[in-house]
Amino acid sequence: MPVDILQTHKLLATCEAALAAKYTVHKLHEATDRDALLAAVAGKVRGIAGGNVGPELMDRLPKLEIIANFGVGYDSIDTRAARDRNIRVTNTPNVLNDAVAEIAIGLMIALARRIPQADQFVRQGNWPNGNFPLLSELNGKTLGILGLGRIGKEIAVRAQAMKMRVVYHGRHRQADEPFVFYDNLTGMARDADWLLIIAPGGKGTEKIVSREVLTALGPQGYLVNMARGTLVDEAAMVEMLASKQLGGAALDVFEKEPQVPEALFALDNVVLSPHQGSATNQTRNKMGALVVANLDAHFAGEPLPSAVV
Ligand code: 8YV
Repeated sequence: MPVDILQTHKLLATCEAALAAKYTVHKLHEATDRDALLAAVAGKVRGIAGGNVGPELMDRLPKLEIIANFGVGYDSIDTRAARDRNIRVTNTPNVLNDAVAEIAIGLMIALARRIPQADQFVRQGNWPNGNFPLLSELNGKTLGILGLGRIGKEIAVRAQAMKMRVVYHGRHRQADEPFVFYDNLTGMARDADWLLIIAPGGKGTEKIVSREVLTALGPQGYLVNMARGTLVDEAAMVEMLASKQLGGAALDVFEKEPQVPEALFALDNVVLSPHQGSATNQTRNKMGALVVANLDAHFAGEPLPSAVV
């Protein structure tokens, strides 16, 4: 008998097909009556594919053994509640490092050189009336990375190829890393030209990029967020971008995405991206395969490829 699993949101077609081939899949996100679906499957669901899992959902599924998240960030899963209930949690690390690092550098260049705005300038026929303004470049600048984890390190390598100086802030100094460590985020923001966020979301990091940090980054400073919107005081950021107290921002993530503060749409010192970090076929396929591999390993009684709980 195939194992019953619950899917909490839409997944990649290849991942859904692989799941359907091995499991009996119940799609919570497609249910017209969520409660009725949960009541009907409660006694048999042993796994979840996807995120957005809190204690309430866990308590509705007494046979739940594993939650396999699609994504490296698992801030939408209450891991403490999972641990308390003996439920395993897995994520999809490493396979997306390159894709996220690539677009991080892409967004930085796009902001420094205002590539989207320049494209509009040409399309709207403005070029014959005068040249596009002169801008800045990455080389010679200091990039402060908030969160020198697996993705942060890939970004650091690429930033060095752009001839940037890399420094970082995180919970701990990493003895094996050649970059200067700041134990104080505001201090790093003050010394850096660019502040790039690639640290985990969740309760421990909410709004750590505060007004004070953004003030330290200042009118010449650029912010890049590749992590979660929750890490930034978004209201302060929008206000400071509009008043040019903050030089600019390249944003892939937002506090209430897919809702984006409308005030950003009118600003020419921002580049906006719809949470694209891992959004390539190559990477999403690998992430989907890892979701399935974690579920398969668990139900075969084998070690989990990427457990976080
Ligand atoms: C995911 C992400 O693709 O992996 C993460 O944590 O932020 C993205 O790359 C996205 O969360 C999918 O739901």
